[in-house]
Amino acid sequence: MKNQQKVVDLIDKREQAKLGGGEKRIASQHKKGKLTARERIDLLLDEGSFEELDMFVTHRCTNFGLDKEKYLGDGVVTGHGTIDGRIVFVFSQDFTVFGGSLSETMSQKICKVMDMAMKMGAPVIGINDSGGARIQEGVASLAGYAEIFERNILASGVIPQISAIFGPCAGGAVYSPALTDFILMTEQNSFMFVTGPKVVKSVTGEDITTEDLGGADVHARKSGVTHFKAESEEEGAMLIRKLISYMPQNNLEEPPLVACDDPIDRLEDSLNSIIPDNPNQPYDMKDIIHAIVDNGEFLEVHRHYARNIIVGFARFNGASTGIVANQPNFLAGVLDSDASRKAARFVRFCDAFNIPILTLVDVPGFLPGSGQEYAGIIVHGAKLMFAYGEATIPKVTVTIRKSYGGAHDVMSSKQLRGDFNYAWPTAEIAVMGAAGAIEILEGKAIRAMTNEEEKKSFIAEKEAEYEEKFANPYQAASFGYIDDVIEPRNTRFRVIRAFEALQTKKVLNPPRKHANIPL
Ligand code: HXC
Repeated sequence: MKNQQKVVDLIDKREQAKLGGGEKRIASQHKKGKLTARERIDLLLDEGSFEELDMFVTHRCTNFGLDKEKYLGDGVVTGHGTIDGRIVFVFSQDFTVFGGSLSETMSQKICKVMDMAMKMGAPVIGINDSGGARIQEGVASLAGYAEIFERNILASGVIPQISAIFGPCAGGAVYSPALTDFILMTEQNSFMFVTGPKVVKSVTGEDITTEDLGGADVHARKSGVTHFKAESEEEGAMLIRKLISYMPQNNLEEPPLVACDDPIDRLEDSLNSIIPDNPNQPYDMKDIIHAIVDNGEFLEVHRHYARNIIVGFARFNGASTGIVANQPNFLAGVLDSDASRKAARFVRFCDAFNIPILTLVDVPGFLPGSGQEYAGIIVHGAKLMFAYGEATIPKVTVTIRKSYGGAHDVMSSKQLRGDFNYAWPTAEIAVMGAAGAIEILEGKAIRAMTNEEEKKSFIAEKEAEYEEKFANPYQAASFGYIDDVIEPRNTRFRVIRAFEALQTKKVLNPPRKHANIPL
């Protein structure tokens, strides 16, 4: 072949590789409302930044006549590019090639970019759209999965890992996304389950649709497996770009600082009157969050799951910050097992990647009852306590209203190494609420009373006495557990000042192989 022809040949090969499993299958992918592996990468990365690797890799399987069916690239597109100018490594499974199923060589391609991401200290984003293990390759495919799992595990806490699920993700294949930091699913076409509806029916007799078993909605609301639910792949890609903007490239770097045009001393007068006089009346904690962060921008994580606690990313004076906040608007902001696990995982992500945490507290306690006890709330609550207690990143806490009992300790209290603990004048920091306390303290006296009127006024008087003493932040402030009681409208400024003072914070945990968080 003449040299010039070799160049033409290369161009042809590239064009052929770009067609994946062929035009017919691409058309079928589009007909399902799905984009191709390369179209997805183009959406995700800065325009023209993608550099593809391993385009000429083909599988080596000869079973079931597969040696006669080979596609350049073998079912996954891999490489690197940039998001807002910062390098990321990506892999995007190509459903048009054997249904995106995982072969030995596909695994090698994915592992190569994961290894590069670790070497370079850059995030990895995986786009999943696959029929699972390539059936014709048998155990070689299973080994390929395990190679990826091990890399997910070793990369955890070192580089951010994000999984987009834009198609099927079933069987053991679900465990790679589950090992990553964040999962995003789309409302259509995206599903995840360990066993599909047919196996479920044959093993347990349960009749269930694909969507009800493992669609985006159930994983966003019920299981909490997915952190984000997007309406479309386009929206999903934009969400991932935004998410990445809050993170450093790796655990040794700080998150990027962006220019801030929102005045740091902006007073938010509405906050002085946002807390209702009736302590049992809810309000929306998100109103407080939006009022204090830069430009009101808040990227909520796990928006639909365990809504009694809010977690997500925002910025203060341009600095990326994780926010954890009880939500009085849902289940009165109580801590239950799901909320504890949700927040614990978020706190640990922030701690691993040097993202400071602001905690906004309005918590009436842990949710009582056999349901929660049997679900292991003791261990799940301990997870959140553990996560806060071991975290060494800057931690600022603002107690807005209730902070009762064990939940007070858990929510980034001073004794769990909270750096700056502030309270609004509306804060109530106590062992429990007035009604519960008086029932216990004065139960005998109350039961002995026969006159209903007298009983009522006795209870009211005792509760008022208790509230006077404990339904405020000043007892905690008198012990130094609260560093200052602040004017609500000035919260943004005080939080920014606190984080600025913490910029050089250095705290190390005792040396050990690893801690034993109550899993
Ligand atoms: C090889 C596969 C494949 C697989 C799909 N294909 N899955 N090839 N191995 N696992 C091929 C099909 O033969 C077909 O080829 C093409 O991909 C598209 O598949 P369709 O069935 O036509 O697509 P669709 O109707 O959209 O259905 C998608 C699907 C279905 C729901 C994913 O293909 C499916 O159920 N596949 C099998 C899923 C599965 O059981 N996988 C193994 C799970 S166990 P042609 O040539 O017609 O285009 C597992 C263990 C992992 O994954 C363990 C890790 C530890």
